[in-house]
Amino acid sequence: MRIGVFDSGFGGLTIYRSIHARLPRYDFVYLGDNARTPYGQRSFEAVHKFTREAVRFLFARDCALVIIACNTSSAKALRTIQQQLLPGAFPDRRVLGIIRPSIEAVARLEKQKRVALWATPGTVLSQSYALELAKLRSDLRLIQVACPLLVPLIENGELSGNGLEYFLRKYWEHTVDQSRQVDTLLLACTHYPLILESIRAVVPSDVRILVQGEIVAPSLEDYLKRHPEIESRLTRGGASEFLTTDRTDAFERLAALFLGHPVASERVEL
Ligand code: DGL
Repeated sequence: MRIGVFDSGFGGLTIYRSIHARLPRYDFVYLGDNARTPYGQRSFEAVHKFTREAVRFLFARDCALVIIACNTSSAKALRTIQQQLLPGAFPDRRVLGIIRPSIEAVARLEKQKRVALWATPGTVLSQSYALELAKLRSDLRLIQVACPLLVPLIENGELSGNGLEYFLRKYWEHTVDQSRQVDTLLLACTHYPLILESIRAVVPSDVRILVQGEIVAPSLEDYLKRHPEIESRLTRGGASEFLTTDRTDAFERLAALFLGHPVASERVEL
């Protein structure tokens, strides 16, 4: 059986890239719901429905474990899927998100006291990060900033330049408007690592930037060590399959950019 990695589109490839680099021997299926992306401004009901369809699809493609590599889906759909879909229909499968490991990484920070989070409006509105963090570290202040224009810019290949920089400065201003003493910035959207250099150029150099792929990959490795009942069912052929709900040519062009090497993809209906 394989490890499924799901995202609303291309962004989850940044998470897949880190997971695959750390656990290259396993077999993976990446699914991007490019036909319905972006999820960031959609309703709870829509994100939940789409995510459930994707999880069922990946289970049908032999995934023992699905990583929801999308913050918006993790925020709006993960808990319901874990509590309502799995116990009755798929008791031997697991679905993990990327919010909990990110929050655990934030909670491990020692000196830092003011953490900012940049994400889609959906993730910010869900309050998932704030609620999870409050359970682990009530002393840390979390400043949340919705950055609605970053995903469309990135999806359109604007990875640097004046247009992107204008919005990055604006979002950083929104951040410091809430606190002048931000010491950490968590990129809580799968797409943002692609513009890390541009973000780094705008955010002061003493602010630490946390990138989710670097957090999620070791966390998954640890999970597999602690869950032999799942790990022992995973095959080790080192193969990855890439599936998209939209045009394969567009997927392959952007996937090459995200991954740094060409891939072949297949179009699927959920
Ligand atoms: N993958 C989404 C996230 O991490 C960003 C793209 C979208 O809005 O669908 O929130």
